[in-house]
Amino acid sequence: MNRFPLFLDLIDRRTVIVGGGAAALRKARLLIAAGGRPILLASAFATATRAELEGQAELIERAPVREDFAGAMLAFITIENHDEAGRLAAIGRQADALVNVVDRPALCDFTTPSIVDRGAITVAISTGGAAPVLGRKLRADIEALLPARADALAGFAAVYRDAVKSQFSQQDRRAFWEKFFDGPIAARVLAGDETGAHEAMLEAINRPQEIAEQGVVHIVGAGPGDPELLTLKAFRLIQGADVILYDRLVGDEILSLARRDADRFYVGKAKADHAVPQEEIEARMIAFARAGKNVVRLKGGDPFVFGRGGEELQALRAAGVAAYVTPGITAATGCAAAAGMALTHRDYAQSVTFVTGHAKGDTDPDLDWAALAALKNTLVVYMGVGKAGPIASNLLSRGRAGDTPVAVIENGTRDDQIVAKGILRELENVIETHGIKGPALLIIGEVAGLADSEALGDLAQQERNAA
Ligand SMILES: C[S@@+](CC[C@H](N)C(=O)[O-])C[C@H]1O[C@@H](n2cnc3c(N)ncnc32)[C@H](O)[C@@H]1O
Repeated sequence: MNRFPLFLDLIDRRTVIVGGGAAALRKARLLIAAGGRPILLASAFATATRAELEGQAELIERAPVREDFAGAMLAFITIENHDEAGRLAAIGRQADALVNVVDRPALCDFTTPSIVDRGAITVAISTGGAAPVLGRKLRADIEALLPARADALAGFAAVYRDAVKSQFSQQDRRAFWEKFFDGPIAARVLAGDETGAHEAMLEAINRPQEIAEQGVVHIVGAGPGDPELLTLKAFRLIQGADVILYDRLVGDEILSLARRDADRFYVGKAKADHAVPQEEIEARMIAFARAGKNVVRLKGGDPFVFGRGGEELQALRAAGVAAYVTPGITAATGCAAAAGMALTHRDYAQSVTFVTGHAKGDTDPDLDWAALAALKNTLVVYMGVGKAGPIASNLLSRGRAGDTPVAVIENGTRDDQIVAKGILRELENVIETHGIKGPALLIIGEVAGLADSEALGDLAQQERNAA
């Protein structure tokens, strides 16, 4: 550590910024966000700066003089004229202000860190002036890890600070808080369920032995395959899970984000090969939650799109288990983006319909074919590869043109993605020619003509080789 970090209280403290440009505005935003009311001095201010800082800062349109720095705690010099900046820095220092001259570390008493701001929770990162860009990258990593509701968690804990203090000895207090922040009550606060969290907290304080006895289940969408398509929330929940129950389409790259000591259970289903029956999956989640575990039920795509997420949520709620849902990018939107094809398009499609090609037993899907055959609709069929023949003939017999473009996207967003294009009357042929086995989507409609038809995985590989 070559700099000493500290967090200053700016309320009712004088802070001065010299300059009226973009750098001055950035510093003003920072000071205002921390509760300060900076004084800006410049010969001119842009209209946008005036409008943004109106009522939150004092803008003085003239050159700074010695008296402006008197009593200032901090002074930022943001002007480009080096000599003038040096002169003003010296004046600021004589007035006992801590001085920062933008982009001139040698003239600075302090640097401004990269900041992760979650209200009361603030993380400040310094590289000691050596590599500000690295500081910003580290900040982005920490942003991803720190829950958006970290501030709410701090506020929640503050409410119970005195109650916990009066109920527990000093030693037990620490153990209580450690358990709390890793446990299901904190998970409820972070999920936005403060009412449930308050009830559980009162129980926990009055009957401390039970604090870890009720866990939570998060039903989480893992997206279509590319780990970078995980939401920040999914990423954080996976990293915090004690137990993960995952499906067939959740890849190793995503599972490897879990803690090493997390228990992982494969509960995926393939057609006619039900690894674990649905009731058993639900029973396991309930049992783990009742044992106080933080459970993540990880599903491909979005849990509420052909994912049985709704049934699982109902079962958990019926069992009185706290359960929350985190959406994911569904295969349709993921595949469409990866294949460069919009699902709706002003010129080609005003609606999009998601259907499943899967039907009970080995029957053909029983769908409203007349509605699905409508023009200017994009039809996305999940689990439809094995039923491509009946799907095409049902649409054709209800009037959809035989030359309607189709795209079959296998392993969308993954390195081995294939986009096979053709026309509706040859749908089965397209699947056979490209050896498509799934997971794949059938996209039927004019927009499918816009899809990139290369195996994008090959392109990705070429890019990696070239790098
Ligand atoms: C049980 S459904 C689950 C859908 C998932 N909940 C979603 O929102 O994407 C499985 C089907 O989704 C489609 N699918 C899932 N991931 C895919 C991918 N990466 N590429 C193409 N299709 C995919 C396939 O049709 C697969 O048979």
